[in-house]
Amino acid sequence: MKKIQLSWVLVVILSVVVAIFAYKFTAGAVAPSDEGRQAVLISKDERNALLLEMRTWLESAQGVLAAANSGDMAKVATIARVSGMAAEEETPGSLFAKIPIAMKTLGFATRGRFDDMAVMAEEGKSGQEISAYLADTMNNCIACHAMYTFVDEATVK
Ligand code: HEC
Repeated sequence: MKKIQLSWVLVVILSVVVAIFAYKFTAGAVAPSDEGRQAVLISKDERNALLLEMRTWLESAQGVLAAANSGDMAKVATIARVSGMAAEEETPGSLFAKIPIAMKTLGFATRGRFDDMAVMAEEGKSGQEISAYLADTMNNCIACHAMYTFVDEATVK
């Protein structure tokens, strides 16, 4: 009897722990901002790392467009992969719990689409098909920028 009760207590404790982790993972460190978007609260270094990642995405978008336009498919593949899933390794692990799940999903989807562009180029898709795919991908850029802003957590009480 005692044994059974103890295991239930353990189940309850573990469930609470899992729920806290799940909540932290999905909610992220967000707060309302004074300009309407959700502020994602991160450290100064994390913010700098993410903004660098963003500038790389912009460079890849421009590079893919230019290469697709001139029909240089090898270059499309190389440039697209710079922003593909493999580059996710450079993202600081400390961000894991801070980024809300909706933002992570959109971010991973964007990286995945850069990888798709590389594959499309390798599979002989036309420059026009690839630039259309990029145009569609850039709706992710717009959607995320409309929802979130990065704020240095040290500036928020
Ligand atoms: C998952 C969310 C998300 C996606 C997707 C996303 N961004 Fe961003 N990006 C942000 C946030 C948040 C900021 C910071 C905006 C702020 O604080 O005002 C930002 C900032 C930027 C900046 C400014 C960088 C700087 O140094 O200040 C550029 C450029 C940028 N994004 C380009 C892009 C491009 C291009 C894409 C699509 C290929 C893209 N982003 C997709 C979230 C995203």
